Amino acid sequence: MDFFEAGGETVGSTLSWVLLYMALHPEVQEKCRQEIFNCLGVREPTMNDRGTVPYTEATIMEIQRCSSVAPSGLEHKALEDTELDGYTIKKDTLLFYNINSFFLDRDYWGDPEKFRPERFLNDDGSKTLKYERFIPFGFGKRVCMGESLAKAELFIFTIMILQNLRIKISANHAKPDPGQYEAGITRSPLPFHVTLEAI
Ligand code: HEM
Repeated sequence: MDFFEAGGETVGSTLSWVLLYMALHPEVQEKCRQEIFNCLGVREPTMNDRGTVPYTEATIMEIQRCSSVAPSGLEHKALEDTELDGYTIKKDTLLFYNINSFFLDRDYWGDPEKFRPERFLNDDGSKTLKYERFIPFGFGKRVCMGESLAKAELFIFTIMILQNLRIKISANHAKPDPGQYEAGITRSPLPFHVTLEAI
């Protein structure tokens, strides 16, 4: 039950955010698609392809940062009275950490409000960068158990979507708004329309 509950909604919502951000940023979408066709062509991706499509991987990371699907860690309980950074935390206190605040820290990211996949790339664009404040799966002892499965799903599904479909803003509906979402333990976009064009 834990795996189904923690694994379905989170990955599903992230893929909805992929569709939303790709529709809003067609230039990023085309750049990913170009990279994917250059490296993989039309064959199905495998996990061995990781590292060969850095711009696409950086785009998935930027979508995770901007959408903040798990905006906070799960609750954890202090096992004993603890002093932390001048604060006294009593035994049995429930604690959450604010993942979203890591993603929006202006001093750290410079322009956190901007959707900019390049921030996750090195200077020549050949490798993705690791940031200690990029923690979509939490951190520490109770970090997400499904992290590697989730990363695999996001990598494979995003690439297959982009190989097969062009995602466009619908001419007949309002533009999706990333600022409008359903907030709960996870954050998913409100229902939105896009047009999907077969490639
Ligand atoms: C994009 C997808 C996912 C995101 C963003 C995500 C995020 C998180 C976060 C932030 C936590 C809390 C960490 C903490 O409190 O310190 C967590 C815990 C957990 N996640 Fe995920 N998760 C994702 C996918 C999955 C998948 C696919 C599975 C399993 C199939 C999974 C299973 C779990 C479990 C079992 C925990 C509890 C771990 C523990 O308390 O020891 N998650 N996840």
